[in-house]
Amino acid sequence: MQAEADAVLGDDQPAFEHMKRLGFTRDVFREAMRLYPPVAFLARDCPAGDRLGKRDIPPGSVVMVSPWLSHRQAERWTEPHAFDPDRFGCPEGKAAMAGGYFPFSVGPRVCPGAAFALQEAVLVLAMLSRRLRFEADPAWTPVPVARLTLRSANGVQLRVFRRGGG
Ligand code: HEM
Repeated sequence: MQAEADAVLGDDQPAFEHMKRLGFTRDVFREAMRLYPPVAFLARDCPAGDRLGKRDIPPGSVVMVSPWLSHRQAERWTEPHAFDPDRFGCPEGKAAMAGGYFPFSVGPRVCPGAAFALQEAVLVLAMLSRRLRFEADPAWTPVPVARLTLRSANGVQLRVFRRGGG
């Protein structure tokens, strides 16, 4: 990400036209959304009943769909628990994305802020990584918990350094 931010942004103010050249940064964000989807489960009422794959859904059921689980399915993803932004460039990663990747939900109630969130995240990551370097604290293990959204039960501690010293 640092190399990409240096090459694409340099000292410029980030702008929309930089977006298409920040592909690796975008894939880092996508991979973070795969492993830690902020909305880890979606609930849907099924008032009339339905059939889902091999299962009958009785009328009045609440069906829970979990991006967290689909994003870590071993049948779909190679090394599902590994952080690997490059997976989205491979045919296998593209196929997995088409079928089982939905951090912003899908269908009629898809997140209307998805495109905005993606652009904002990529620009913020690029702006941060051109000036700063982040290190995880090896003594600190964040514990993910799904409440209304996914967060760390014990916070996230990072060490932040100015690039070039300081
Ligand atoms: C990383 C950032 C974001 C993620 C992961 C995310 C994810 C989601 C998901 C999964 C849903 C569907 C929830 C459900 O149906 O149960 C949703 C709905 C929604 N999101 Fe986002 N969202 C993000 C950012 C945003 C932003 C930036 C906005 C507004 C600018 C936004 C506005 C909305 C709205 C209004 C809905 C409700 C849509 C409806 O029910 O018809 N979201 N979001």
